Amino acid sequence: MPLTIGVPREVFPDEKRVATVPEVVEKLIKLGFSVAVESGAGDAANFSDDAYRAAGAQIVDGAAKLWAGSDIVFKVRGPSPEEVGLMREGGTLVSFIWPAQNAELMKQLAAKKATVLAIDSLPRTLSRAQKMDALTSMAGVAGYRAVIEAANAFGRFFNGQVTAAGKIPPAKVFVAGAGVAGLAAIGTAVGLGAIVRANDTRAEVADQVVSLGGEFVKVDYEEEGSGGGGYAKVMSEGFQQAQREMYAKQAREVDIIITTALIPGKPAPKLITADMVKSMKPGSVIVDMAAEQGGNCELTEPGQAVVKHGVTIIGYTDLVSRLSKQSSTLYSNNLLRLTEELCKNKDGIIDVNMEDDAIRGLTVIKDGEITWPPPAPKLPPAAAPAAKPAVAAPSKAHGHGAPSAPASGSRIAILFGVAAVLFWIIGAYAPAAFLGHFTVFVLACFVGYMVVWNVTPALHTPLMSVTNAISSIIAIGALVQIAPPISEGLARPDSWIRWLAVLGIVLTTINMFGGFAVTRRMLAMFRK
Ligand code: NAI
Repeated sequence: MPLTIGVPREVFPDEKRVATVPEVVEKLIKLGFSVAVESGAGDAANFSDDAYRAAGAQIVDGAAKLWAGSDIVFKVRGPSPEEVGLMREGGTLVSFIWPAQNAELMKQLAAKKATVLAIDSLPRTLSRAQKMDALTSMAGVAGYRAVIEAANAFGRFFNGQVTAAGKIPPAKVFVAGAGVAGLAAIGTAVGLGAIVRANDTRAEVADQVVSLGGEFVKVDYEEEGSGGGGYAKVMSEGFQQAQREMYAKQAREVDIIITTALIPGKPAPKLITADMVKSMKPGSVIVDMAAEQGGNCELTEPGQAVVKHGVTIIGYTDLVSRLSKQSSTLYSNNLLRLTEELCKNKDGIIDVNMEDDAIRGLTVIKDGEITWPPPAPKLPPAAAPAAKPAVAAPSKAHGHGAPSAPASGSRIAILFGVAAVLFWIIGAYAPAAFLGHFTVFVLACFVGYMVVWNVTPALHTPLMSVTNAISSIIAIGALVQIAPPISEGLARPDSWIRWLAVLGIVLTTINMFGGFAVTRRMLAMFRK
C-alpha cells in the first residue's frame, strides 16, 4: 500500500519554513505517495492551504490528526517532545536532528521504534549526495540574507559611485570563514558592488573566493587548516595569534564584517574581539552568522541586533527563516531528491538501504535502534592504503596463495601476449596497403589515449572543441577538388563537384574558426 507523507506546521518559535511546498507535493504524488499537510503549515512561507489542495495534498486540521495519519513525516526543525508523543509507533521521520547535541530526543525517538533520517548528518563530501544537501542550501540562503541584513543596517551604498553630489567610495566587506555560507555572502556582496576580502583556515578555498570576485587575505603563518570532510580543525596558538593580528588590521579598514567560522562540534572560534569592534569606524556593521554556536564576535548577543561602540552587531539566528519562501522551496527539493533515492521503484514505498553510503550516513535511528554515528565512509582504494591488508587477509584464509596485485599483473601480461599474436597474424597476412593505414590507426589510438588521459577532466570540453576545429583539416580535400589539375594528364573534376567543394570549404571554415574561437572562450574561463 502506498505510504502517506505528512507535513506538520513547524512549532519552533518564529520558524517560518515549511518542509514541503506545493510544487514538490505534485512530484511526491507522482512517486506514488499520498501527501497530507496540516492546515496552515505553509502560511508563514506564503503557501496557502488552497495551493496545497490544488497540488493534490489532503489538508488535515490539527497536529494530532496529521501525525497519527502519516507513515512518514517531513519536518524542518527536529520534533518537540510533544510532537514525538504524537508520532506513530514505527513511523519514519525526516528532519534536522543534530544527533550529537540532542541525545534525549534520540532516546525518545528510539523508544517510538522510529526510523529517523537526520538531514544534517548527510555525508557532505559525497558528490552524489549534493542534491540532498540541505545544510548547503540553507547556508547559501543564510549567507545571502546576512549581506542583505548588513546592507539594511549600513548607512551607505555598497557600490562606489561618481555623482554630481560627490564621489562615493565602495563599501569594504570582510568575510571570516569561506565555507558555504561565507561563499554565498561573498558572491552577494560582490554583486552589490562592494570590495570583498575573505579569510579561511582552509587554504583550498582561496581559489573559490577569487573566482567569486573576492580577495583572499592570508594569515602570515604556515599551517594547513583542513580537518577532512570539507571541514576545518582547531588551529595552533601561533596561528591564532597571527590571525588575530590580521583580523585587527582588517577591522580597522573595513566597513562590514560577516563572520561564518565554524568547526563542527566545537564552540565557534572567537575571532573578533571587543577591542577590534572598538577600532571599527562608527556606523560599521558586523553580522555574526555563528551566533547560535556562541558567536565569532565577543560582543554578539544571539538572536539580537545591538549597537556597541557605534557598531551594529547582528546575531540573528533565524536568517534562513527570514527568507522562508526561498528556503522552504530549496529544502523541500532536497527532501524530494532524498525521497527519489528511497523510492527507486516509484511505487510509494520507501527502502532505507543501509548499504548506500549517503542513506547510511543520514539514518540515525533504524526501526528503534540508534545507528548514529555511522562508520567512517568507505574510501576509494587509492585513498585508503590501510584497507589493503584487510583485502589480502581473506584471500589467504581461503587458500588462494596469490595476492590480488600480481593476479591483475598476470592478466595484463596475458592481454599483451594475445595482442602481440594478433599483430603478428595481421602483419604476416594482411595486404601491404592495409598495413600502412593500420599502423597509422594504432599510433593514432595510442597518441589519442595519452593526450586525453593526461588532460584534467575539467578541460575535456575545450579539448573536444579544439579537436573539432582541427578536424576541419578535411578542407584540404575540398581545396584539391577546386584547384587546377597538377599535371596535364589529370582530368579536371566536373563543375558541380567543384561547387560542392566550395560549399565544403565554406562550412569547414566556419567549423575551424568557430571551433578555435569557442575553445579560446572556454579556456579563458579557466584562466585566473
Ligand atoms: P562551513 O563548515 O561550510 O563553513 C565554515 C567555515 O569556517 C569553513 O570554511 C572553515 O574552514 C572556516 N573556519 C573555521 N575556523 C576558522 C577560523 N578560525 N578562521 C577562519 N575560518 C575558519 O559552515 P557553513 O555551512 O558555511 O556555516 C557557517 C556558519 O553559518 C555556521 O556557524 C552556521 O551555523 C551558520 N549558519 C547560520 C544560519 C543562521 O540562520 N544564522 C543558517 C546557516 C548557517
